[in-house]
Amino acid sequence: MEKIDNYVPRSLEDYNRLYNESITNPESFWEKIASTFTWKKKWKNVLSFDFKKPEFKWFEGGKLNISENCLDRHLIDKPNQTAILFEPNDPNEKHQEISYKELHQRVCRFSNVLKKNNIEKGDRVCLYMPMVPELAIAVLACSRIGAVHSVVFAGFSSTALAARINDADCKMLVTADGSFRGSKTIDLKSIADEALASCPSVEVSIVLKRINSNIELNDIDKWWHDEISLASNECEATGIDSEDPLFILYTSGSTGKPKGMVHSCGGYMVYSEYSFKNVFQYNKGDVYWCTADIGWITGHSYIVYGPLLSGATTVMFEGVPSFPDFGRFWEICEKHSITHFYTAPTAIRALAKHPKSFVSKYDLNSLKVLGTVGEPINEEAWNWYNEVVGKKSCPIVDTWWQTETGGIMISSIAGVTDQKPTFATKPMIGIQPVLLDNDGQEISDSNTNGILAIKYPWPSIARTIYGDRERYKKVYFTAYPGYYFPGDGAFRDDDENYRITGRVDDVVIVSGHNLGTAPIEDAINLHENVVESALVGFPHDVKGNALYAFVILKDDSKTENINTEINDLISKTIGPIAKPDKVQIVPGLPKTRSGKIMRRILRKIACGEKNNFGDISTLLNPEIVELIVKGY
Ligand code: WTA
Repeated sequence: MEKIDNYVPRSLEDYNRLYNESITNPESFWEKIASTFTWKKKWKNVLSFDFKKPEFKWFEGGKLNISENCLDRHLIDKPNQTAILFEPNDPNEKHQEISYKELHQRVCRFSNVLKKNNIEKGDRVCLYMPMVPELAIAVLACSRIGAVHSVVFAGFSSTALAARINDADCKMLVTADGSFRGSKTIDLKSIADEALASCPSVEVSIVLKRINSNIELNDIDKWWHDEISLASNECEATGIDSEDPLFILYTSGSTGKPKGMVHSCGGYMVYSEYSFKNVFQYNKGDVYWCTADIGWITGHSYIVYGPLLSGATTVMFEGVPSFPDFGRFWEICEKHSITHFYTAPTAIRALAKHPKSFVSKYDLNSLKVLGTVGEPINEEAWNWYNEVVGKKSCPIVDTWWQTETGGIMISSIAGVTDQKPTFATKPMIGIQPVLLDNDGQEISDSNTNGILAIKYPWPSIARTIYGDRERYKKVYFTAYPGYYFPGDGAFRDDDENYRITGRVDDVVIVSGHNLGTAPIEDAINLHENVVESALVGFPHDVKGNALYAFVILKDDSKTENINTEINDLISKTIGPIAKPDKVQIVPGLPKTRSGKIMRRILRKIACGEKNNFGDISTLLNPEIVELIVKGY
């Protein structure tokens, strides 16, 4: 068997050769990559799929355990290498270096805690935690016993948390007494308690002591430290079917409630490791840092699974880029000799607003590769990243992908393939993107815009939406039959480089967070004085996009506290990240004759446009446009 490293491209020729192999003979290609992992039982069939159903099965018949592949596999050759390097929120608190050996023991211990508390293979466990090692430990412990983790970002409100717990019928919640965030502490436990009041499926809640509060536990609560003190260091990894679910992770849709994307074990394992090794070109001794939160897919695939599967040293950071000052990221880079740094354009834009001295104060010579993810990066931010942080000597990988794709789909490969500012560039090995026109026909021309779609399955495609196969089919496989439709538009240049132009649906990406407009409108409409509302995105120089709410009131004379009240409602039902930057009270909304809000017009108004709205004669109420513009 060829070694996997022969399958990680080190030159442009390698990339071209491997890419061709991966698309001319996908099954034998992925079989070779899969063979480099530890399987408890070999698969019978590499791939079967049907875009119409839709159904995708990878390595069917195989049994494995991803936590065994993340941990046990590395105990032979690197037991003492740091697996997780934890940097706390407070720079005065000591950082932690957790070796593969120690991580293995701690994961085993928590796996035994899960078992003792009646968690079995297939049960769902919700993790609502700060960015501390115990979160990664809980993730790996779930996968070790075959429980399905559902990590909920700890910035979500109690209502949002409860909705996610109930949607997945979680049996357990793992949380903390609180979390540190810059100069603030957040009372996670009260939020969790509020949520649990309406979550009958949760039988036990394990509470990590992080902020040393004096809280009293409820009947179903148990302290993390008490539980692990009794647990053994050993727990054999359960063999899980390749197609069994590994985790659920919620992402916003353009309509309705959030979608619980389900990822399965075998394919996700193969692709998260392979894509990590490819894109970042991680080498022995490197220290890799992704600044995302494990509450998002980037944290799942490129803080926990991809790096640990690859035997890398992965950094977890609890804090924020602005505390104690805007040099925090660079201080950490110097302190730990970070070689790979992966962050979001929003963070780059926010930091670029401050004096360069926050960066230049620190020695960043260890840096080798820079990465970005989550939204399009504008040229100015790209140049700042390249010049001020990378000193023009670090390749930048602009990685396009999604919660649904499980791993990076389009990106340059650090130092191997060409980069081009604002372009994600070329597909990853094994990924077959196309551009479609509005009729769903493939566009073969270059230098053109289109709808981005993927025409062949890859191992880590999400297998369904938890409990809603119909919605999975409708959202991703119906508009363009025979393709996976991600919801993004793209431009392709003469050299076949892709540039992602943004969402083509009603999802707005604010500071790298996907926000569906419909659930936020629903929250606004809860206000007793609101008749109807419409939310759109508009460009913002730091956040990428901000939200603009148009609101019709029952009683126009009662506007005094309306903005605060609307913001409170949104914070409570979704979370503070979904608050609009602007709220405008309007006498009506532009609607088509079939009653649909013409968001195209509202988007233009939100951008400050006053006249050029194109053809508005099809509107039921064209006169409303002028009235809204006047009130802008
Ligand atoms: C957007 C994050 C441009 C895109 C991994 C996608 C990007 C959505 C990029 C998924 C990028 C992500 N350039 N846009 N490099 N990366 N996006 O599920 O609109 O949180 O559909 O996954 O973010 O966001 P999600």
